Amino acid sequence: MSVPRLGVGLQFNPELVGWFPFLAQPLDAVEILFDAVMAPLDGPGLLSPRATALLGPVAAQFPLTGHSNYGGDFGFAPLDGTAAVRRHVPLARAIGVPWVSNHCFYSDASWSDVWSSPVQFSEAEAVRLAGRARALQDLYGVPLGHENAAYYRTCPGSDMTEQAFLARLVELSGTYLHLDLHNLYANALNHGRAGYSVERFLDGIPLDRVISIHMAGGRWIEQQYHDLHDTAVPDPVWDLLDEVLARSRPGAVILEYETTALRAGDEALDPLRTTELILADLDRARATWDRAYGPYSRRTTLREAA
Ligand SMILES: [Fe+2]
Repeated sequence: MSVPRLGVGLQFNPELVGWFPFLAQPLDAVEILFDAVMAPLDGPGLLSPRATALLGPVAAQFPLTGHSNYGGDFGFAPLDGTAAVRRHVPLARAIGVPWVSNHCFYSDASWSDVWSSPVQFSEAEAVRLAGRARALQDLYGVPLGHENAAYYRTCPGSDMTEQAFLARLVELSGTYLHLDLHNLYANALNHGRAGYSVERFLDGIPLDRVISIHMAGGRWIEQQYHDLHDTAVPDPVWDLLDEVLARSRPGAVILEYETTALRAGDEALDPLRTTELILADLDRARATWDRAYGPYSRRTTLREAA
């Protein structure tokens, strides 16, 4: 399986709709959060009515890729009954996405506990999850990349490193990796004293299986660094992108932002300031991509050159 080389894109978070000018941007790709646009499992249809109206113009203008956070992909419920199989797979096929990424969490029907439920890094779980991953990729019919998580605590029972686990998972399943560089950065800040190393992580995963990349920002709250997607991408994460683009050939670099987080605490949402922040990050991502692969290596610049 192979993926098209699209370039730099933005995650289509419905929180941004209504004030961020998606359609005015020269985006090489837009990543759809399946969870945010799917119809409820207890009703008819695939897309929620609101999402149908929102997605139309975006789908007409940009190539769409797919992402699953809450599909139950790696949970313990039978795969056939999960949102991943009942909604995400038919959505991916209907949209025609070139690949799908999913999160390495134990998600279930609840959406509230998933972010603190990283999978157990063990041989037994690599074998179990590889079976689910292979079955899901077969259903999607396109490459499925697993996203490395930002986690607060390692799952009890883990007896191998995260990088060894991910390498084993894709070796067994024939699936791919989706690399979130801000998650790596967050884990290094939170778990550095416990021996977590970004360099060892990157040396330990098969970089030739990285099909897409996430970039984001976050912040410290008391003694914990959080992957909140509520700031500009930090400088060290840009450095990581330079390194990873030199060592792999992903199909896209996708930037992630959360509006609800951007107005957290006492801060008021300032659409103009936030739009400028996102546009500056997009420019920096394009410059980084072009530095690695040349000036006519993205979907939009290829079209300009033609
Ligand atoms: Fe991510």
